[in-house]
Amino acid sequence: MDNQQKLSPVTITLHWIIALTVITLTGIGFYMSMFDFYPLYDWHKSFGVVIFAVVLLRVWWRIKNGWPIPVGEYPTFERRLAQAAHWVLILATVLMPVSGILYSALGGWGIKVFGWVMVAGNKNPVTGQTEAIHAGLAQLGQVTHEWLGYVLAGAIILHIAGALKHHLIDKDRTLLRMLGRRQR
Ligand code: HEM
Ligand code: HEM
Repeated sequence: MDNQQKLSPVTITLHWIIALTVITLTGIGFYMSMFDFYPLYDWHKSFGVVIFAVVLLRVWWRIKNGWPIPVGEYPTFERRLAQAAHWVLILATVLMPVSGILYSALGGWGIKVFGWVMVAGNKNPVTGQTEAIHAGLAQLGQVTHEWLGYVLAGAIILHIAGALKHHLIDKDRTLLRMLGRRQR
């Protein structure tokens, strides 16, 4: 379990697997949708579905473990801002895969996970055009995925800035503890 001196290997492993995957998926997501770069879509969906399972494990772990106790005493505003960013990050990592799946599945585009057909695409056999299974819900998924993507990107920047402030300005153990370094 986590304590103020040390975070458990489960917390650290889940944090870095999810952090690196989500940063990559966010970058790739904006790139592929901005430039209509279709070769990346199946990769984006595959890693997005797989990371969703890891995200759910992390949510269970946070419920069981609570949030990490800050390494020192900080002003109330700073503590609240960090906590708010953690909530946004963890909720966005749940809602991004959910909205992506909603959009792709109900928009008729289908979902392949590393070649395995999780949801088949819905093509009209006569016209060959992709047809939505439920246009309204698919649009809800698309709009949520896009706007939450901006919120997530903002929260990631704030979160990284916070981690750097702790390390470089406050010179405390916040970042080192998340890197698994022991107190000397
Ligand atoms: C943590 C997981 C995920 C993150 C952080 C993420 C992030 C993003 C971002 C930032 C975009 C660009 C915003 C946009 O234009 O919509 C995007 C696009 C997209 N994502 Fe995801 N995504 C994730 C998971 C998924 C999953 C699981 C699916 C589907 C199974 C998916 C399907 C798509 C599709 C189809 C687009 C292109 C949308 C378009 O061209 O309009 N994503 N993603
Ligand atoms: C290079 C990028 C990142 C760095 C340097 C970083 C650093 C940190 C540090 C030092 C903590 C501990 C805070 C504390 O002790 O109060 C932390 C916690 C946390 N980070 Fe990150 N982080 C990064 C990326 C991300 C990303 C992309 C996400 C979301 C997907 C994320 C989500 C979280 C969450 C939810 C916590 C709370 C503790 C937990 O659930 O593990 N981080 N991060």
